[in-house]
Amino acid sequence: MYIGSYQLSNNLIVAPMAGVTDRPFRTLCKYFGAGHAVSEMMTADKTLRMSKKSLYRANFDGELAPISAQIAGSDPEQLAEAARYQVANGAQIVDINMGCPAKKVCNKLAGSALLQDENLVARILDAVVAAVDVPVTLKTRLGFLNGHENILRVAKRAEESGIAALALHGRTREDMYLNTARYELIKQVKELIDIPLIANGDIDSPEKAKYVLDYTGADAIMIGRAAQGQPWIFREIAHYLKTGEHLAAPDIAEVKAVLLGHLAELYEFYGEYSGCRIARKHIAWYTKGLRSSNEFRQNMYKVENTADQTKVVESYFDQLLDQGQRMSDVQAEQVNLLDIK
Ligand SMILES: Cc1cc2nc3c(=O)[nH]c(=O)nc-3n(C[C@H](O)[C@H](O)[C@H](O)COP(=O)(O)O)c2cc1C
Repeated sequence: MYIGSYQLSNNLIVAPMAGVTDRPFRTLCKYFGAGHAVSEMMTADKTLRMSKKSLYRANFDGELAPISAQIAGSDPEQLAEAARYQVANGAQIVDINMGCPAKKVCNKLAGSALLQDENLVARILDAVVAAVDVPVTLKTRLGFLNGHENILRVAKRAEESGIAALALHGRTREDMYLNTARYELIKQVKELIDIPLIANGDIDSPEKAKYVLDYTGADAIMIGRAAQGQPWIFREIAHYLKTGEHLAAPDIAEVKAVLLGHLAELYEFYGEYSGCRIARKHIAWYTKGLRSSNEFRQNMYKVENTADQTKVVESYFDQLLDQGQRMSDVQAEQVNLLDIK
């Protein structure tokens, strides 16, 4: 699959997730075979550009190409300027966020709130595409309200604007993360447009990945929550799509090594204080469903520095290894990952 002139190594894409898909996580997912990843959303508001949060989000140092920077806002000129800024900052693709359902974003008429004003959507698309020489992609939802899904018009307009690929989460803003993703409308969009379409929403297993690709005819799929705490899902899905067979789940020793490697990257990226705190949610995701993991997490949350955090993680996994816990046991017990928001 191509985004503009960039050929992706496969059609499995890491969904942008603010607070999750930072550079260390995107790098890890790419290591496990994701063909592409999009940054966390970055506000188009120039006055916030030098905030600590924005600087972390705009850090693409050493990331595997193509680098995609997601921008969010509601003013066409401001978004155009933000796109130019991100390209100067190393982005090879600019992605526009018209999918975020969060109140904080929608109250400023950004994210999925934009879908209420198709005229403004068109002005934004035209302005951003005209502003940069790199491919511009759009990530959006089916519409704002249920019963008023306008994705067919929005998708067509995006294609006319010169958008290079469209990622579509099969829910409306009203759905938030409730109900299930509706693939029927994604399929209709695929039939309508000629630019690459990326299907998104509730893809959490190799079978589901194959089903969504086959049913919608989408060119690629995008995976968000199901990659939290299991970045190897890209390896598993890629293998299944290629061979029709399941790859064995990683064993506990591999999970331990991946998590410790991930922690080291987070500590290096964010430093001692933030690194330790940001790592907590990742540790919680990796250990969900493992033996005595509730108790482990309660203790782990109390640890305040990276050296001790590494130690408690190491000793927990060593204990699991001594007890002979296997990941295949875990998966049977595992709570649906899609419950994690
Ligand atoms: C914690 C979290 C943060 C998110 N942040 C963003 C974001 O920054 N930009 C965006 O376009 N979508 C964001 N999303 C939406 C996801 O990209 C994706 O569309 C959604 O989670 C559905 O896919 P999934 O079912 O595979 O998780 C976020 C979702 C989650 C759970």
